[in-house]
Order: sequence, then C-alpha cells, then structure tokens
Amino acid sequence: MPPESDERARRKQAAAEHAAAAVRDGAVVGLGTGTTAEYVITALARRVGEGLRIVGVPTSLRTERLARSLGIPLVGLHEVERVDVTIDGADEVVPARLDVLKGHGGALLREKLVAVASEREVIVVDDSKLVGQLGSRCAVPVEVVPFGWPVPARRLEALGGRITLRPSSAAGGAFVTDNGNYILDVDFGPIDDPARLAAEIKATPGVVDHGLFIGLVHEVIVGGAHGVEVLRRA
Ligand code: A5P
Repeated sequence: MPPESDERARRKQAAAEHAAAAVRDGAVVGLGTGTTAEYVITALARRVGEGLRIVGVPTSLRTERLARSLGIPLVGLHEVERVDVTIDGADEVVPARLDVLKGHGGALLREKLVAVASEREVIVVDDSKLVGQLGSRCAVPVEVVPFGWPVPARRLEALGGRITLRPSSAAGGAFVTDNGNYILDVDFGPIDDPARLAAEIKATPGVVDHGLFIGLVHEVIVGGAHGVEVLRRA
C-alpha cells in the first residue's frame, strides 16, 4: 500500500479532533479501530489528562492496548448496559444515506456489536472515503468461522461476489480476527441494494457478521480541503 499523504492524515485528524471535542463528561464511549480512530483515542486521552471523566469500550485488542497505554479507563461491552457514543472510522461512506462499509482493519464484529449498543454511532473519515455506492472501491469483509470456511465462501460467490480469504500480513496463512475467525473479502462491485445484500450475507451459515453498516450510523464527520463537514441522519 502506498504511504499515506500528510494531507490525508491531516484531514483524518481534523475529523477525529472534531468528534473527540464533542464527548461529554461522564460518557461511556465506544472506541473504534483503525488509523482515524487512533487520532480520536489520542485526542480523548489528552482530554482525560485535562480532567474529562469517561470510560472507553474498545472495539479491538489493538485499540484496547493503545487506549490503556494512553491512560483511558476501559470496560468491556459486557460490563455496560449501553454506550453513549461510539466514534469509529470507515472504509466507504455514502453521504446521502450514511450507509457505511467497514472492516478492512479486521475488527468489524466487535465494531458492529459496540455500534448496535450505542446511543449514537459517529463515523470519522477523510473525504477520500466518500462514494456514490458501497462496494465501488472496497470488497465487503465477511467474518466466518474457520471450520468449513469454503462452504460460506461458495454461497457468497453464488450471491455474485469474488472471494479472497484474507491473508495474514505477518505470520503467513490466513488472517485471524480477535475472535479467532477468518475474514473473506468479497468483491461485489458497486452494490445496488446494500440492505438486501446485508441480509443475504448474514443468512449464510458460517458467517458471523459483515462490514455493511446499514441504518446504524447517526453522524459522519468528514475532513476535507476546507475543514470539517458534519453529515447527520435526516
Ligand atoms: C477496522 O476494522 C475498520 O472498520 C476501520 O475502521 C476502517 O478500516 C477504517 O480504517 P482507517 O481509519 O485506518 O482508514
């Protein structure tokens, strides 16, 4: 992957800082995963150092390690009844509908569980993530149990997807999620009806969850050339 430009990093950080600044004292905050979410975590840690009282619910082991190292108090999702706000990144966003594709960092299952438990799901992106249709640039990550994974792979192929079993970048073999599962990256091309596809993927035996977040997002904060724009669900 080519190195990220300074400008793109600046736009991500601007969106992240905007979201972190809105977090209220006493909040239970879902902490997303990925490079943009890491800017959020860093900004929140700075506010915690200045006296903000929050507890974070991490969406991955990577996020848990970072947040803990920066001094953010943490709890597990099983320890809270609800999350006030979650701030997370995304791989693609359709601005008109706030439909979102996530999971290229491999954390989609925990990200979705924390999103579902959240009063508000806030997505932070730079403007390169905006698309007219989900699937235009990215494959849909689908988390499957390792046992018999080619079975769901064939079913997803029959739905029109081109399948890649995500490789592990370090160890060789397949990438293994925090939950001990595999990820199939399924390229459907531009998706006409993401809600329907989401239901079909979810109904496939062996599938644990997928990276289509449809109707789950309340707000998208976009960092662009002229600053930050906030998109809200109508
Ligand atoms: C993690 O599984 C993903 O959903 C990330 O939130 C998504 O890939 C965005 O990551 P970046 O902020 O690093 O682009």
